[in-house]
Amino acid sequence: MAKMVGEDGLVIAADLQDVMLRGLMKRARRAGVADRIRPHLTAPDRIGLEDRVDFAIACWVIHETPDVDAAFRELATILKPGGRLFVLEPKSHASEEEFGKLLAAATAAGLSEITRPRSVGDRAVVLECPLASP
Ligand SMILES: C[S@@+](CC[C@H](N)C(=O)[O-])C[C@H]1O[C@@H](n2cnc3c(N)ncnc32)[C@H](O)[C@@H]1O
Repeated sequence: MAKMVGEDGLVIAADLQDVMLRGLMKRARRAGVADRIRPHLTAPDRIGLEDRVDFAIACWVIHETPDVDAAFRELATILKPGGRLFVLEPKSHASEEEFGKLLAAATAAGLSEITRPRSVGDRAVVLECPLASP
């Protein structure tokens, strides 16, 4: 992601565990992109960002959050109007039924399904935050 956003872009890397963020920053320094990444330590039940982002990725994490409905409600507030969220969940942790519940939680939070990218080992969806009213 840090390579994709380019020199003027910013990636906010959010995780509950400081050790994960430290490992990420070590790899980022090796790849020469650390200056484009801001590590952010979350609480278990709150991401706690003031920023608004164009694009967010929740990779293999939603099933670990204590309250999926609350997680999507907060993610919806972090996206800019028209911003997109890519959710990826391992099939081993998300049955078709569980993924359906996840999508219902995302929809209840005001996010719309755009597409479901195919993935062999994962279930995936791209969601969009509504545009602000004119
Ligand atoms: C399976 S790992 C995936 C890590 C990373 N997203 C990736 O794709 O490589 C799950 C990660 O979710 C983090 N996590 C678990 N519960 C969380 C929560 N409530 N808020 C934020 N991060 C959480 C864990 O610390 C862990 O790093």
